[in-house]
Amino acid sequence: MSDPNLIVGLERADDAGVYRLTDDLAIVQTVDFFTPIVDDPYMFGQIAAANALSDVYAMGGRPLTAMNIVCFPSKTLDISLLRDILHGGIDKLREAGVVLVGGHSVDDPELKYGLSVTGTVHPRRLLTKAGAKPGDQLILTKPLGTGIINTAAKGRMASEEAIETASRSMATLNRAASEIMVRVGANACTDITGFGLLGHACEMVEDSEVGFKIRSFSVPMFPETLALARMGMVPGGTYRNKEFRSQMVYATGIPDTVMDILFDPQTSGGLFIAVGPDRAGLLLSGLKEAGVIDAAIVGEVVSEPKQRIIVE
Ligand code: CO
Ligand code: CO
Ligand code: CO
Repeated sequence: MSDPNLIVGLERADDAGVYRLTDDLAIVQTVDFFTPIVDDPYMFGQIAAANALSDVYAMGGRPLTAMNIVCFPSKTLDISLLRDILHGGIDKLREAGVVLVGGHSVDDPELKYGLSVTGTVHPRRLLTKAGAKPGDQLILTKPLGTGIINTAAKGRMASEEAIETASRSMATLNRAASEIMVRVGANACTDITGFGLLGHACEMVEDSEVGFKIRSFSVPMFPETLALARMGMVPGGTYRNKEFRSQMVYATGIPDTVMDILFDPQTSGGLFIAVGPDRAGLLLSGLKEAGVIDAAIVGEVVSEPKQRIIVE
């Protein structure tokens, strides 16, 4: 069954599904939920909402409405915990100008929270993982390392400052970055989540039929990330991400710990944007002006080798 109005669907998985309503209006739909990744329930609610909204921002869309998805062990956990999580979620939605229209909860032995989000986008201004062109500059808008810091936090190895910096970043909306990207005009975009920077970059080179060069020393990282990676505070997902993409990524002389960070699974990570070389400076300065201070040019798009990423 193929519907001509389905612009982005399952056959080419992108950040969100996109369905054309009229020539100049499409809806963007996405859903995301997970188990707590920080101790503070209010912060977890904010992060879960920022993470769910991010897939709409990554498509260049504007989120409008959201619905809560809750799995809660009501027999073992106090209901006030859930209230704090939902409070964090709704505060983040309010900041994003998004209306909560409903939700659904089930009793479940494992606590999970997230949202389904609906937004709109102009079909011709839609950004996907396809569309990156040779010569484009690659911009990353948030530092890497949330997986490593969360792993270290569980073993009481990360400092309060590192946990706090990573939490604040995870709770930060990709809204400003998305709006500036749409205004300046970019060629392709995705957001960095579970597959890590290189995992999501691999999806982009596949869909765009190009190659990437990534300059590892230009990639922003949270403080302590490198030291914690050296101590072995690396989540299991990193190894799966590396294994899955080992054929596509060429890295010679790059330390293992740096590769661990480039493949570190992110929660509510930044946008990863391919932008024409004539607009890259404008986009970067616009991001900095809007407070996206960690944004950096981390590499460029090349025509050959196709479907490969060279890490320098
Ligand atoms: Co995504
Ligand atoms: Co998602
Ligand atoms: Co229901």
